[in-house]
Amino acid sequence: MLATGGLGFIGSHTVAKIIKNKHEVINADNLINSKIEVKDKLHKITGIKPIFYQINVTDEENLEEIFVNHKIDGVIHFTDFKSGGESVAKPSEYYSNNLVSRMVLSKMCVNYGVGKFVFSSSATVYGDQQSPLKEDIELKKTTNPYRETKTMSERILTVQLFQMMVFQ
Ligand SMILES: NC(=O)c1ccc[n+]([C@@H]2O[C@H](COP(=O)([O-])OP(=O)(O)OC[C@H]3O[C@@H](n4cnc5c(N)ncnc54)[C@H](O)[C@@H]3O)[C@@H](O)[C@H]2O)c1
Repeated sequence: MLATGGLGFIGSHTVAKIIKNKHEVINADNLINSKIEVKDKLHKITGIKPIFYQINVTDEENLEEIFVNHKIDGVIHFTDFKSGGESVAKPSEYYSNNLVSRMVLSKMCVNYGVGKFVFSSSATVYGDQQSPLKEDIELKKTTNPYRETKTMSERILTVQLFQMMVFQ
């Protein structure tokens, strides 16, 4: 399994659990919001030395190297910039990091036949609709670039997965 952003806050905990459940994890992170020491901590906690690529997942060539070198059966994707407030000040950085990674990674999944994709989205895509918030309820208009990238990502992934089901 490929974990992108797997040295970050949620990613590192998730990766530790997945490794403890005896799955091999390829961890890809560019360390823009994490530290390399987390890799050693994962090793210490799990007893398994993680396979790690320090790459930017928006870089198609570097990302493809992972798909060529390893049999990837699923992807779990955590690399978004995540601050709503900061996204208002730096919208193009948010659109670029959060959406290009989505396009490149989902394209890679289509090309390499990887049908299992877990995306770390946000409940904000559902606006203020009442619970329970089920996956098939309407996506609502969003109020900042961070949220927009989440809503757009939900659409990109739906289209890519549909393409995969129909054409492969
Ligand atoms: N933390 C929360 O409370 C929360 C809530 C809802 C959704 N989320 C979502 O969960 C995901 C992970 O959140 P987190 O809190 O663990 O964030 P985080 O910033 O701690 O982790 C993200 C990781 O991705 C890496 N990264 C960022 N851009 C990259 C790129 N282009 N290429 C390679 N690596 C890159 C960072 O270095 C970092 O290690 C995000 O998508 C976020 O929107 C988080």
